[in-house]
Amino acid sequence: MKRKGIWRSFPAALAASFLMLSASISAAQGNPLPIPPLLTNQSSDPAVARFELTVQKGETEFFPGKPNITLGYNGNLLGPTLRAKRGQRVEITVHNSLREYTTVHWHGMLLPGSEDGGPHQVVAPDSDWKARFTVDQPAATLWYHPHGIGNTATQVYFGLAGFFILDDEASEKLDIPREYGVDDIPLVVQDRRFSSAGVLLYNTTMRDIMYGMQGKTLLVNGAVNPYLMVPRAKVRLRLLNGSNAGFYDFSFEGNKKFHQIASDGGLLIRPVEMNHLSLSPGERGEIVMDFSGYGPGTVLYLRNGRLPALKIIVGKGKKESPPLPEVLAVVPPLPYTGTETVRRFTLSGLGRMVGINGRQMNLRRINEQVRLNSTEIWEITSRTGMMGMMGGGGNMLHNFHAHGIQFQVLARNGSMPPENERGWKDTVQVREGEVVQVITRFQYPGDFMYHCHVLEHEDNGMMGQFRVE
Ligand code: C2O
Ligand code: CU
Ligand code: CU
Repeated sequence: MKRKGIWRSFPAALAASFLMLSASISAAQGNPLPIPPLLTNQSSDPAVARFELTVQKGETEFFPGKPNITLGYNGNLLGPTLRAKRGQRVEITVHNSLREYTTVHWHGMLLPGSEDGGPHQVVAPDSDWKARFTVDQPAATLWYHPHGIGNTATQVYFGLAGFFILDDEASEKLDIPREYGVDDIPLVVQDRRFSSAGVLLYNTTMRDIMYGMQGKTLLVNGAVNPYLMVPRAKVRLRLLNGSNAGFYDFSFEGNKKFHQIASDGGLLIRPVEMNHLSLSPGERGEIVMDFSGYGPGTVLYLRNGRLPALKIIVGKGKKESPPLPEVLAVVPPLPYTGTETVRRFTLSGLGRMVGINGRQMNLRRINEQVRLNSTEIWEITSRTGMMGMMGGGGNMLHNFHAHGIQFQVLARNGSMPPENERGWKDTVQVREGEVVQVITRFQYPGDFMYHCHVLEHEDNGMMGQFRVE
């Protein structure tokens, strides 16, 4: 036995070094960007979209030969893309095969509180939950993720997130890139921390608990060092900041110009030319980059700050690429009479003491009572407070997200918001000391959450509930 063991160890070592060599070659070239598959609609009735999701444990090698236990929907990591059209009835069955409870929240969807997948709709281990709602909102890039009290951050961190794309008739008539996975690419960007042995690490420092979990490795659609071949044409990138706590600032090498065409809740009125786009956790931005002027084989990086996020390789041939439409969508401003109820929300605290208006999340407390079909103004501000200053604080970054609504930003620090914030939003950045006013209509009844989308803040109590009735 022993001899056999020694005899066998030699070729094994050789094989291992060969593996290491090929691993470093492929690491230098990067990994092909995975495109989340479109989940098959099980319904033959065009008026209905029926989906099945299983929340499961899996295994992912972010680095070759370094398996990690991860979580996914219908797979090892992340989830398939759900897609439905305005007017369609959606029925989703969620099965939880984990040993802990979870929920599945449809972030950005307008629906009754009972279908929202927030902390109230617990899916216990080995059980099912069914969500049913009718899509009645503009075409948009939404997403889904867990929302349990106290376990949202870890479940997202280890892999639970997916896209939910909505279409509508108006957007289908627009001449914009729309071929999924070809010139219309979903990109969920998430920073993660790995040990030198390739082990995915969570909350290893005091800072992680204070400010939220951040890491130095960027994953795009779950891949490290990803590359993507694009047609020589206009390409639409549906960017989702799916991180726990990282605020991102996207740009292309050389600060090349691109257009933002959509914000969280739908298309903007017109394309907005820009050279960088900042997205906080949970926010989405659809951008269109024109690659038609680049020679085949040109390499261009999409970056977060100075860090490469995605290597883009311009392909051969040329695709017909008409100019972007001047007008993308109608975003009717919500009528503002001055008689609306104004509610104020102050995000403050540090670490495990974060809260809103001085209170921490309590599932038994409804913080705000809202009248069904009313229009309100919500004013959100962020203040670190004494504790943060005494701790040497640094800049606490927060944002604000509310369920079951899409809002319009009325003002940021007293002035008109920038052009790319003038469409539908469900998550808005509220940096230290800022005051952001949003206006919204409450069209669906039920209990909903509002919170900071830094997931460690949310899990530690920076969340509240509003009841619409
Ligand atoms: Cu994206 Cu309350 O969540
Ligand atoms: Cu949400
Ligand atoms: Cu926060």
